[in-house]
Amino acid sequence: IKTIGVLTSGGDAPGMNAAIRAVVRQAIAHGKTVKGIRRGYAGLLSGEIIDMNAHSVSETIQRGGTILQTARCLEMLQPEYQEKAAKMCREHGIDGLVVIGGDGSFKGAQKISHFGINTIGLPGTIDLDIACTEYTIGFDTAVNTAMEAIDKVRDTSTSHERCSIIEVMGRGAGYIALWCGIANGAEDVLLPERYDYDEQKLVNHIIEGRKKGKQHHIIINAEGVGHSTSMAKRIEAATGIETRATILGHMQRGGSPTCKDRVYASTMGAMAVDLLCAGKTNRVVGYRHGEFVDFDIDEALAMHKDVDEYQYKICNSLNNDYKYE
Ligand code: F6P
Repeated sequence: IKTIGVLTSGGDAPGMNAAIRAVVRQAIAHGKTVKGIRRGYAGLLSGEIIDMNAHSVSETIQRGGTILQTARCLEMLQPEYQEKAAKMCREHGIDGLVVIGGDGSFKGAQKISHFGINTIGLPGTIDLDIACTEYTIGFDTAVNTAMEAIDKVRDTSTSHERCSIIEVMGRGAGYIALWCGIANGAEDVLLPERYDYDEQKLVNHIIEGRKKGKQHHIIINAEGVGHSTSMAKRIEAATGIETRATILGHMQRGGSPTCKDRVYASTMGAMAVDLLCAGKTNRVVGYRHGEFVDFDIDEALAMHKDVDEYQYKICNSLNNDYKYE
């Protein structure tokens, strides 16, 4: 490997800059040339490729977002563009490529490796929804941002004795919702993975809580379940309790990364370069059972994971009637 390219793809996540910085500096430490690819695969296809040196990543470890910008590139689903992406790498002398993103981005890396470019994926998403790893870059920051915001909503919700529906990110994954459910002591949590909620049950639960003297009722609703505003109107009509919806939205994706995100992203970035230098390709870095590990991308993409059933149960039992079912 002579030249390592790095790109970020899909939704941005705090800590991506720490990962880019580590790739750049570890590659330089190994005597390699580094190229930054702007705007994810879209930028690779259009040749938006810049030279990077150790200074290119100065003052970036503490910054949210991604200095390389990112994009969701649907063209990469098509074989002709996958081949073109590999060709663009070759034209720019890139023989090793680090892709920071989610499962969709790894599929691109997998295809590019079939066309002879060595690729390594790093898990970058606030959603934590990558099966081969217990950690993804950005989750820790995002879940802490959401938790702090929910604490604030809870203050005003209690003062006004309201019910609050707070929508957190996660189109297909309820990890942010579940973690906040536990961390914020929410009375109810609605997850896309457990989309079996019954609005009447929710209404009864709110009324029951009020009778027991609860001054608020916090419902954390994952984006994938959605409809928070209309749900709030229906709940207010059914319970007679003032109900407000707050959609936290993209604020969860921004901000300075936590220490954990900086340290783990830096470790993974350096490891990606070490793997490339050891001649590895089509690998993805993960964190499992307390260790940083790597998997074949094909294997990683075939894995499945689900929200932890025990945590889901205790989220309910610890925050409500203290009955474990
Ligand atoms: O993948 C991260 C994520 O923030 C999801 O939680 C969310 O569903 C999605 O991205 C939103 O994407 P966009 O910013 O394109 O609306």
